[in-house]
Amino acid sequence: MYRKYYIPIASIFILALSLAYIEFFMDDIKVIVQLKNSWEMAVPHQEVPQGLTSLKARDCGMCHVQHYEEWQKSTHANAWTDKQFQAELKKESSPFMCINCHIPLQNQQEYIIKGLEDGDIYKPVKEKNPHFDAELQLEGITCVSCHVRDNKIIGPTGTTLAPHAVKKDTEHLSEKLCISCHNATAVVTPTLACSFQTGDEWKAGPFYKQKNCISCHMPETHRSIVAGMPERKSRFHSFPASGIPKSPTHHPERLESLTFTLSPNKKTYATKDSLIFTLELINANAGHRVPTGNPERFIITEMVLKDKKGNIISQKQERIGEHWEWHPIVKKISDNNLNPGESRKYTFNEKPLAKGSYTIHFSVSKHRLTPESAKYNKLGADYPLSFVAWEQTYDFEVK
Ligand code: HEC
Ligand code: HEC
Ligand code: HEC
Ligand code: HEC
Ligand code: HEC
Repeated sequence: MYRKYYIPIASIFILALSLAYIEFFMDDIKVIVQLKNSWEMAVPHQEVPQGLTSLKARDCGMCHVQHYEEWQKSTHANAWTDKQFQAELKKESSPFMCINCHIPLQNQQEYIIKGLEDGDIYKPVKEKNPHFDAELQLEGITCVSCHVRDNKIIGPTGTTLAPHAVKKDTEHLSEKLCISCHNATAVVTPTLACSFQTGDEWKAGPFYKQKNCISCHMPETHRSIVAGMPERKSRFHSFPASGIPKSPTHHPERLESLTFTLSPNKKTYATKDSLIFTLELINANAGHRVPTGNPERFIITEMVLKDKKGNIISQKQERIGEHWEWHPIVKKISDNNLNPGESRKYTFNEKPLAKGSYTIHFSVSKHRLTPESAKYNKLGADYPLSFVAWEQTYDFEVK
């Protein structure tokens, strides 16, 4: 009775042993490839700088009240909790390094990545991080992501007034810091690409050496940076840009890149006139293309012509953005983003209309992603997808 089972059990045991051995042996020959790109690696573990009790934004905010309040409005503060990011992260196709620009500090990451088995991005060699701080993870791109290195607060002056360790490093706190995350071009797998060229676009454009990421997105001011301290040069920390919110309660500040001119703006037309409207958009204020960064963003220009009763007579849309094909091989199909300084004219040409009163409505809206992608990612009905950045309505008569 026992015997009957003895042999199979023993052989399974031996098999298990030999498997373990092979595994052990394989471990020896397994090639662990070192990480090389900056975004494959986390910023090394940081200790709480001398004089402070924590790395959390809220605690920096006990003294740096305004910086904290401004940062809370920023997209950076939402870089981890963003629903779209979380939905994408859960996909098997999302490799380990997705998190390195969204929660850059080792302290924010649950695992330490030692390398890649056989160089395969889907086989990171992981180790539990004993110093993982779950609360700091929620803060995304937080104060310490930019300000703590070598266990010290990196600042622009090296002030001696601070109760915490400070090191002056203007090279670190330069646009190079921004570009380390805002510029990445890599085809990760045949169906996954990282494509952000905001840094390259800026270097190739007219603002290079005139204005940079920091001068536009962190405007300068003069104020005390801690209540009771003397005023000094300071920079706003709300990182205003597109203005597209991340949730119904998120109210990011806006920088408007585009200027809008509509012509002609006549009040009366004759029945034989064709109606020609021209809307000109100029990317006057951005130091890079618009949209920039995430290839899913786009701008829609819309014209809706209605009669007196509100019936739509005609409707036209134009899109500025990129088109990508994701399967079978990731590939950019087209791109009509606006270069810095570039103008785009849309002409809406209508056939002569019958006598009567009409209303025409023009609008320009900015979009984070399409309703189809939002649905596919199950982002829910309250996830903000777009907002109207500019609109104009006017009435005219055909006599
Ligand atoms: C107990 C109060 C306090 C806390 C907490 C605190 N700071 Fe400060 N910090 C100061 C004071 C005071 C100064 C100097 C003010 C001055 O120079 O006018 C300062 C200066 C700075 C500077 C400017 C350094 C430079 O080179 O000019 C930075 C950057 C900074 N703090 C970041 C942080 C960050 C990030 C945190 C959280 C991890 C933090 N601070 C927490 C009080 C504090
Ligand atoms: C650690 C990586 C990292 C660094 C460093 C970084 N960013 Fe970002 N930034 C991001 C990510 C990721 C987002 C998007 C977060 C999201 O959409 O959830 C973002 C968003 C932004 C946005 C908001 C865009 C919008 O309208 O939605 C601006 C503006 C911005 N960053 C500017 C800067 C500037 C200026 C610097 C340098 C001072 C900088 N960033 C440094 C990763 C980084
Ligand atoms: C995306 C990067 C980034 C993040 C996040 C960030 N800062 Fe800064 N911070 C900077 C840069 C860059 C400067 C230096 C600007 C300069 O050279 O004038 C700066 C300057 C400062 C200064 C010096 C005074 C001033 O206003 O210029 C303080 C204080 C400061 N930051 C505190 C904070 C606190 C507190 C947080 C979090 C609530 C935070 N920062 C988040 C990039 C960042
Ligand atoms: C001359 C000023 C200027 C400079 C320089 C500049 N930006 Fe911008 N940026 C803008 C404006 C204005 C917008 C708003 C675009 C819009 O209308 O939605 C913007 C938008 C963005 C966005 C949001 C992307 C989008 O299309 O929704 C990001 C991210 C960003 N900037 C990052 C950067 C980084 C990183 C740098 C440095 C390499 C930089 N910017 C340099 C003015 C500037
Ligand atoms: C090189 C740094 C970097 C890496 C790596 C990275 N991101 Fe991002 N991510 C950014 C920046 C910068 C933005 C800001 C959006 C922009 O520029 O328009 C962003 C924005 C996003 C957004 C918000 C989109 C929007 O329009 O607001 C999502 C979602 C996202 N990333 C997902 C991912 C996923 C999934 C991965 C891994 C495949 C990943 N990211 C890897 C830098 C990075």
